[in-house]
Amino acid sequence: MNITIIGTQWGDEGKGKVVDLLAESADVIVRFQGGHNAGHTLVINGVVYKLSLLPSGIVRPGKISVIGNGVVIDPEHLIKEMGQLAEKGIKINPDNLYIADNCCLILPLHSELDRALEEAKGVNKIGTTGRGIGPAYEDKVARRAIRVSDLKNPEYLKERLENLLVYHNALRRGLGQPEIKLNDVLKFLTDLAPKITPFIKPVWYELDKLQTAGKKILFEGAQGTLLDVDHGTYPFVTSSNTIAAQAQAGCGLGYTKSYKLGITKAYTTRVGSGPFPTELENEIGQHIQKKGHEFGTVTSRIRRCGWFDAVLVRQACKLNGIDGIALMKLDVLEELDSLKICVGYELDGKKFDYFPACPQAQTRIKPIYEEIAGWKSTTAGVRKFDDLPVNAQKYVKRLEELVGVKIALISTSPERDDSIILDNKL
Ligand code: IMP
Repeated sequence: MNITIIGTQWGDEGKGKVVDLLAESADVIVRFQGGHNAGHTLVINGVVYKLSLLPSGIVRPGKISVIGNGVVIDPEHLIKEMGQLAEKGIKINPDNLYIADNCCLILPLHSELDRALEEAKGVNKIGTTGRGIGPAYEDKVARRAIRVSDLKNPEYLKERLENLLVYHNALRRGLGQPEIKLNDVLKFLTDLAPKITPFIKPVWYELDKLQTAGKKILFEGAQGTLLDVDHGTYPFVTSSNTIAAQAQAGCGLGYTKSYKLGITKAYTTRVGSGPFPTELENEIGQHIQKKGHEFGTVTSRIRRCGWFDAVLVRQACKLNGIDGIALMKLDVLEELDSLKICVGYELDGKKFDYFPACPQAQTRIKPIYEEIAGWKSTTAGVRKFDDLPVNAQKYVKRLEELVGVKIALISTSPERDDSIILDNKL
């Protein structure tokens, strides 16, 4: 069966490892939203691969990796990432990488704008990755974006750029930034076009053919459900839909059945600004941050850490229709005497079993905790559920009960093989 991989928290749940693990039995790996704001780390035979834009399947020979139309592409970054992988011996060619002809581009003017707007917001900043994701999606929805297929047609590209610059130069004047000259950006794009155009395909059409031929497809989500532009902690979100329903819209494969696997960390982290009810601004939070190496892959920022929030994960599972959970980084919690799990919220004397949408309520809401004893022994590298310390088993079972979704996989180290698979559908 096809599989859709989705983050059920604020991203950084460890999707890269799971995608890589499951890519073994998939034929096609599809990215369907986001861009190079994502950071997926893969560790294979001790070699570390850091991917931002390319689908994680690219490191495996014999797989087709697809960048769907829902992704925004920074062409300069794409070329750089392909070059870095080539240096590690990964072969990328038009037979194993397809780029949708209708993907929109991120240009240097988008990342400049992203950073300028963040600076102007001061304390209210979102804490974006500064990679131009938001401004690029804005241009897409406003129907003025440059699409990859435009790179094949310099005359049309020029026309589209003229139209784009009317808007951006007005904005830049307002922000006190120098205007962009049409010929500079046209040259920038025509120079790099030959490195991108060989990969361009009508992806919806190719995927339809592959699915009809019985190929197994893995949809690789980026970021997490709580960063979804509609369902996340708006406005502290990314600018795309990150939920499973986007998998079809973001690649054009209209009909597909898939097992939706929710990647979930055994605790909670968040990078950037925004509400975080179970955040631990104390030595336990620092301990988790250090032991879990919780630094942003893309921006190297320290990730905020907190207790597992079963309410938020349950909400995320419902929004996605999650079939099973992959529980990540259990080993990070192994030195704690006891652990807390958020089982509900309270605000102004009222109890909540969901996260209200209003940011003011989200910041004031108080978690209701349940406490559970720690296990104080290592779980790193364990490959059978019964070999986990008893208290770790109890913690996992309690999370499963509270979230209401089966735990299908437990990851016990960054290595691909250190995984306990509990659902034979995977
Ligand atoms: P943007 O996607 O760069 O616009 O950033 C918007 C918000 O999403 C910020 O809080 C970022 O820290 C967060 N974000 C974006 N991509 C990721 C990711 O891959 N992992 C975790 N957080 C992310």
